[in-house]
Amino acid sequence: MCGIVGYVGPRQAAALLMEGLKRLEYRGYDSSGIAVLNGQGLVVVKQSGKLSALEQQLTGRTPTGTVGIGHTRWATHGPPTTTNAHPHTDQSGKIAVIHNGIVENASAIRRVLEQRGHVMVSDTDTEVLAHLIGECYRGSLEEAVAEALREVDGAYGIAVISEDEPDVLVAARKGSPLLLGVGEGELFVASDASAILAHTRSVVYLDDGEMVVLTRSGYHVRDLAATRIEKPINQIEWDLATVERGGYAHFMLKEIFEQPDTVRDTLRGHLLEDEGSSRVSGLNLADDEIKQFNRIVITACGTSWHSALIGEYMLEELARIPVDVEYASEFRYRNPVVDERTLVIGISQSGETADTLAAIREAKRRGARTLGVVNVVGSTIAREVDGGIYLHAGPEVGVASTKAFTSQVIALALITLRFGRLRNLSILQGRQIIQALKALPEQIQDILDRAHQVEALAERYWRSNNALYLGRGVNFPVALEGALKLKEISYIHAEGYPAAEMKHGPIALIDENMPVMFIAPKDAVHGKIVSNMEEVRARGGQVIAIASDGDDLINRLAASTFTIPETLDLLTPILTIIPLQLFSYYVAVRRGCNVDQPRNLAKSVTVE
Ligand code: AGP
Repeated sequence: MCGIVGYVGPRQAAALLMEGLKRLEYRGYDSSGIAVLNGQGLVVVKQSGKLSALEQQLTGRTPTGTVGIGHTRWATHGPPTTTNAHPHTDQSGKIAVIHNGIVENASAIRRVLEQRGHVMVSDTDTEVLAHLIGECYRGSLEEAVAEALREVDGAYGIAVISEDEPDVLVAARKGSPLLLGVGEGELFVASDASAILAHTRSVVYLDDGEMVVLTRSGYHVRDLAATRIEKPINQIEWDLATVERGGYAHFMLKEIFEQPDTVRDTLRGHLLEDEGSSRVSGLNLADDEIKQFNRIVITACGTSWHSALIGEYMLEELARIPVDVEYASEFRYRNPVVDERTLVIGISQSGETADTLAAIREAKRRGARTLGVVNVVGSTIAREVDGGIYLHAGPEVGVASTKAFTSQVIALALITLRFGRLRNLSILQGRQIIQALKALPEQIQDILDRAHQVEALAERYWRSNNALYLGRGVNFPVALEGALKLKEISYIHAEGYPAAEMKHGPIALIDENMPVMFIAPKDAVHGKIVSNMEEVRARGGQVIAIASDGDDLINRLAASTFTIPETLDLLTPILTIIPLQLFSYYVAVRRGCNVDQPRNLAKSVTVE
């Protein structure tokens, strides 16, 4: 998620912009920049890397001026280079733009502008937007911005300044947060309040389709058709730390609640509804190349290894390709049978996990084609694989992985659709999967709206010292992931098992002190898991169930039940994991654990 800050007032803009960008560092970024109007013209300074690199660039040449914009970029289109950093300027070099979001029709606009002689130097959709605004400029910056945005599809939060209007800053939002800060004789814009809280607590939240025009004498809010809009001024009561978490008590909770949006963002632009397939151009794989693979290896660590197991069920069921899932730490030291007909997929949220990186390098050394399922754009794994798909889930700050897991499963479903439709998957089956994928965000929201029920469940079990998670089929990996979530943030010893495996030993652990979490949606193995549930009950075990809405049988068998909406069997993990994420969160909070930074853990394990 990029960071935006802008200023119009009597003070020097550059220092205020840099201070605001520092407040936005927690959001994650890989490059930054500022633009200031210094009375003679527009000065743009930008740099890849951390803000300290930008500060170095500014040393001795900080632009003076009291109107400016600043940006921290989390790369989505194009690697995190200085050229791709914001602000971007138009053809004239007089207009500077910073942007958070995705211009979905950027390629089409770029082609038209280049035919008109525009020359763009970066890979970004933002530079296209800057050139479009310049193309629309005929003496009014706000009108030029409005006209350009009327042509844009996609999501944006932008701020724009021009040396031809040195006392004006125009900002607009559609789908990416943006607010106006009203100070004493000075005005700010920002992507979130943390950037400006040091200067004012009076803010105006923009809504989608709205623009705000800041000048030295004040501001006005309007829509793209120039209709003025009256907006209330809100007072921010939160402290800075709470503001950075978007009002949530912890980053982990914020990221759990982001999942309706992050699932949408992972799906965005990839679904081919008519063909019942998916378009994932980043795979860099032609149809005939996909057809020649006779085996897939998916390698990863931790939570990413759990999503890999779900990918195995999907690909074998729908694409009929043999799949092996390997712990990266094991794969790299074995003597794996891998050749040019093997596709090796590395899954990594950070894109920096040492074992996964080493496993991919080993696979390449043996001639395999490699793909990455990665969240951090431009990360080492993303740069070393032959192709891949980005999650677009935004930075995951909480050490316990939540939104990355669901987005990984979505990414694997997109790969499965593409591969399956080249083999045995019918167009009707593909369309059915697409409809089910599109329904997931609202179904996740339905679960999140009942988070208080999960909190009540946690209140009953937070004192436990052990727990068992059981699932069958594609929900066996969910049992593993749910157990990992609980143990890594609440320090309760929890194990995940295939439900049928109970009989082969673990059932000896069952007594009234052992909560047993069954992941039991209405799917092909529902009847089997009911039998396992009865075996646990017969031994006095405390059964907790994640079941489908309206499942009275499970509701009667379990001491506690949380229900979820129904979806296709293979997609149930996207829904069954949500209450388990919440359960582990509430138990950990109740136990007074450090939820965002659990003891002994790091967000990215870049060592062996
Ligand atoms: C999961 O909650 C942990 N944070 C950890 O298991 C993590 O999934 C694992 O270290 C892999 O990280 P990666 O996805 O960044 O490669």
